[in-house]
Amino acid sequence: MAFGHRYTGLIDRYRDRLPVHDDTRIISLGEGNTPLIRLNNIPRELDYDVELYVKFEGLNPTGSFKDRGMTMAVTKAVEEGSKAIICASTGNTSAAAAAYAARAGITAFVVIPDGKIAMGKLAQAMMHGSVVIQIEGNFDDGMRLVKEVANTSPVTLVNSVNPFRLQGQKTAAFEIVEELGRAPDFHCLPVGNAGNITAHWIGYSELAAHTGEHVTEACTFCRGHCRYAGGGVAGQRPRMVGYQASGSAPFLRGAMVDAPETVATAIRIGHPQSWDVAWKVREESGGWFDECADEEILAAQKLLAEKEGVFCEPASAASVAGALRDIRDRKIPEGSSVVCTLTGHGLKDPDAAIAQASREPIKVRAELEAVTRAIHENME
Ligand code: F0G
Repeated sequence: MAFGHRYTGLIDRYRDRLPVHDDTRIISLGEGNTPLIRLNNIPRELDYDVELYVKFEGLNPTGSFKDRGMTMAVTKAVEEGSKAIICASTGNTSAAAAAYAARAGITAFVVIPDGKIAMGKLAQAMMHGSVVIQIEGNFDDGMRLVKEVANTSPVTLVNSVNPFRLQGQKTAAFEIVEELGRAPDFHCLPVGNAGNITAHWIGYSELAAHTGEHVTEACTFCRGHCRYAGGGVAGQRPRMVGYQASGSAPFLRGAMVDAPETVATAIRIGHPQSWDVAWKVREESGGWFDECADEEILAAQKLLAEKEGVFCEPASAASVAGALRDIRDRKIPEGSSVVCTLTGHGLKDPDAAIAQASREPIKVRAELEAVTRAIHENME
């Protein structure tokens, strides 16, 4: 890389594939460009060969993938002259909305389920100066309310029903294909509203439609600038696999769930906003939906932290919990490449982490002998 090159966020990087104008004022915190980490230790313990990667979206500026969509949604809201944004959230969207609104100098109203969001996320929304409205209800109630408010008040809705959100989020698929040189065989994600699985499918599909010889003036996607033109990226797309928490699994039940429950509060959603389109993603990609019990999700979270040094939040670990089961069951065949999206950072939810940590801190006197003994007793 040349000296003096500064990464300035995903809109600048993928400007030719996003709905922005040359003179659009970009609201960015340097989101995107997250690491695709190849897992070493976990696959070694499986008895057959898979290439397993995690895309660690927890390393975005506010600690989740929501920043990808929020840079677009807030950039467009500001372009359209909006002075306030609103969202319902299980926590991460509100953290991102609060931060990007602060950056833009506008107001964020965030509607969250009382007592059911992780502490780190609440801290973020409060710290960035958003107006936090806690409702005695769940995310689905909040969603219904903010849609109505956005129709009657001068506020821009920045949930994933805002089409610019998915446009920003599709860039994660671009990054993966750039790094691997091709799309993976399987892409596994945790599913709540199903916005993210849809956004990835849009990204992969745009790339696949845009490889080989096909660059003409008629192409609205690249307007002739596409760097994938003839660049050897296979026109192949992954199978998209979505995992839900068992207590909040409308895609498994085939119907909305009215009282969703799960330890993975980020995906405690019973009425997904992208219902129809997510079924289409499953069908077009040849993928599937499945569910994970809370215990499986927490076990995968801990496994990633202890075996690979990657600390994600519980909801994120659903992708790895499900993928590992499908690998063991041979639903994902030997020799496959698999990407699991880790949607949020583990620090978002310190309570969930401490509650299931393997060992308690050892308390000793502040003396050499006591510390030495603690070390010797715990040497592995
Ligand atoms: N993982 C995390 C950490 C999330 O915060 C969310 C959604 C998802 C997965 C599911 O993504 O909804 O696109 O299928 N969080 C939203 C929020 C609902 O308000 O932060 P999805």
